[in-house]
Amino acid sequence: MRKILITGSLGQIGSELTHKLREVYGQENVIASARRQPEDNPVVTEGIFEIVDVMDYENFLAIAKKHQVNTIIHLAALLSAKAEEEPAQAWHLNMQSLINALEVAKEVKALFFTCSSIGAFGPSSPKDNTPQDTIQRPTTMYGITKLAGELLCDYYFNKYGVDTRSVRFPGLISYQTLPGGGTTDYAVHIYYDAIKQKAYTSFINKGTTMDMMYMPDALNAIIQLIEADPNQLIHRNAFNVSAMAFDPEEIAVSIKKYIPEFKISYDVDPIRQGIADSWPNAMDISAAQQEWGFKTEYDLDKMTQDMLKQLSQK
Ligand code: SER
Repeated sequence: MRKILITGSLGQIGSELTHKLREVYGQENVIASARRQPEDNPVVTEGIFEIVDVMDYENFLAIAKKHQVNTIIHLAALLSAKAEEEPAQAWHLNMQSLINALEVAKEVKALFFTCSSIGAFGPSSPKDNTPQDTIQRPTTMYGITKLAGELLCDYYFNKYGVDTRSVRFPGLISYQTLPGGGTTDYAVHIYYDAIKQKAYTSFINKGTTMDMMYMPDALNAIIQLIEADPNQLIHRNAFNVSAMAFDPEEIAVSIKKYIPEFKISYDVDPIRQGIADSWPNAMDISAAQQEWGFKTEYDLDKMTQDMLKQLSQK
């Protein structure tokens, strides 16, 4: 049976993944962790929770040993826009926490999963149908840490045999926990504002197409990949995954199908626009499909319908 330790469990992905993993693997087999312990959060109240400082290797290792985990899902990281504000700090946090997590996985012989991103590509990567294996010269600090992370995961597999696996996530859209400081966040905020004020001012310009995916599909992808037969995995790390690609105008059109009065306007943020311009329009996801059967259920309209329904109830 899997015994899973999750870092960054209070974040956008972690808060929903923790719940899902507890359903799939049983409450007693999932150890959620984060730097702080909020009293009223379901991640803390609905199962096992530990305070883990991912920057402190000894503390991290002690918790992994205490619970005898055999799987580590490392989610704690700074997102792209936040990382551009404090690049040196972002490098320090994203890389030191990752190497600590990999060292813990090596020590306790755990399967290891982490997230790379569309941000691991740069302006010289092919923009459309971006291949699984291609030029990667990211120009953002976030992207640099993600690309270095992909290489580090390959390294721990090749050198130490750690069973590392990862995906390049696109923008993830969800209604439970807000993302913290990313470039694709506009595609989350737009739904909140559509419900609240039937209008949204986008910090990303029209015509800027990026890959996106709805959270339920992202959670399934993580479980599918950690359960995949290792003999089928040619790439192991950093699989391109995505469910759709759209620009702000297209998501606005989708919202208007359900809220006809909805209006989008623009107040472009040059920093986040610059980041978005350096990323792919749409990635080629065939390696993930072929090697471990990646598939998604939500397209743009199906996601819009569910987001608006869930947020109205909220
Ligand atoms: N959603 C992330 C960001 O915008 C991309 O991986 O930073």
